[in-house]
Amino acid sequence: MSQPDRRRITVLGSTGSIGRNTMDVVKQLGGRDAFEVEALTGHGNLDLLARQAIECGARLAVTADPARYTDLKERLAATGIDVAAGPSGLIEAAGRDTGWVMAAIVGNAGLPPALVAAERGADIALANKECLVSAGRLFLAAVGRGGGRLIPVDSEHSAIFQVLDRDQRHALERIVLTASGGPFRTWSREEMAGVTAATARVHPNWSMGVKISIDSASMFNKAREMIEARHLFDVHPDEIEVVVHPQSIIHSMVGYCDGSVIAQMGAPDMRGAIAYALSYPRRASIDIERLDFARLARLDFEAPDEVRFPALRLARVAMQRGGLQAAVMSAAQEQALDAFIDDRIGFLDMAEIVESVMDAMGGIGEAADMEDVFAADEEARHRAAKIVAERQKAA
Ligand SMILES: NC(=O)c1ccc[n+]([C@@H]2O[C@H](COP(=O)([O-])OP(=O)(O)OC[C@H]3O[C@@H](n4cnc5c(N)ncnc54)[C@H](OP(=O)(O)O)[C@@H]3O)[C@@H](O)[C@H]2O)c1
Repeated sequence: MSQPDRRRITVLGSTGSIGRNTMDVVKQLGGRDAFEVEALTGHGNLDLLARQAIECGARLAVTADPARYTDLKERLAATGIDVAAGPSGLIEAAGRDTGWVMAAIVGNAGLPPALVAAERGADIALANKECLVSAGRLFLAAVGRGGGRLIPVDSEHSAIFQVLDRDQRHALERIVLTASGGPFRTWSREEMAGVTAATARVHPNWSMGVKISIDSASMFNKAREMIEARHLFDVHPDEIEVVVHPQSIIHSMVGYCDGSVIAQMGAPDMRGAIAYALSYPRRASIDIERLDFARLARLDFEAPDEVRFPALRLARVAMQRGGLQAAVMSAAQEQALDAFIDDRIGFLDMAEIVESVMDAMGGIGEAADMEDVFAADEEARHRAAKIVAERQKAA
């Protein structure tokens, strides 16, 4: 039976790193007494998906992989939990009536369900990056039509969201995104040339999914965040700065025209940003590490090196060229990343491949609709895959 005082929520990507942290925060903030979980989605980790669904009493569990439908159905037999699969299952999960949706599916697969949730007016806690990077204008338009709130979950954007004084927009001078620098912060290009996915996926500060961890090492994660910040906070590319801050204590900052800079700090634990997104506009008490400034002792900063980490330069190129260049960058990079994970190309090849594809599709215009986004995405992946194959052949 539905209790009116409980908040109805859905978690897209509940089995991932953000999803698991979200389920932990939901539990900490009252679990079943405070929340009705309408739908959970996963892909391959059915053990966890089934366990989560049973534990929180979800109404619907969805695996994005149609081939796993029967397996999930069997695991949830006699529980009364609805089961669905595939892209249509994700759409069903996103479309069900809830006031809050965590969008934490990795990659482009997360875009269609997040759009559906935005269109129907749910508040969107946004972790997935492609929604803004590949389809920024269209996604924001969907949020606008739906009338829900868009609350960033990425620690950097959550930080800016928390300190940005919207009444002082005219006084905003710059947004400063902090970057840990990843595991190769001090490495030369020669050293980086030989790294494997196993080394690249070990992040010095954050515990995250494989793809985002490797993207942090190459700084393509920061490249995407620059583009996301542009859309989220409606700032000019020149107003976005990146500074390397190896301790990941300052999650990002906003600089104003009087020289004042306001930073948001916290332990590097995504549950802080997730709890904020779940409680917004209030704050809720959760059990995560508190900063002990006496123990911290120092915070370091350094300028990013765009020669060793070309991803940042490519993000600026994408923003300058406009249109669907960011979608092209993101899709080509995801394709190259998969090839790197499979050991088909080297670490440094990723940025070179992305740049080649961006140049080849340099004149691409704005997207009129999602079909244009998907078409650009497909072409960029195709071109990237072709270059990967050529490089493999030449190696
Ligand atoms: N992790 C972080 O700290 C962090 C911070 C900021 C932003 N983000 C962003 O948030 C998103 C999620 O990150 P994550 O680290 O949680 O990733 P993750 O650990 O890889 O989890 C991804 C989630 O998406 C599901 N999934 C995988 N492939 C799918 C597909 N083809 N269709 C539908 N669902 C699929 C996974 O299911 P299975 O696990 O069941 O296969 C899992 O639930 C990413 O866009 C990432 O860039 C993450």
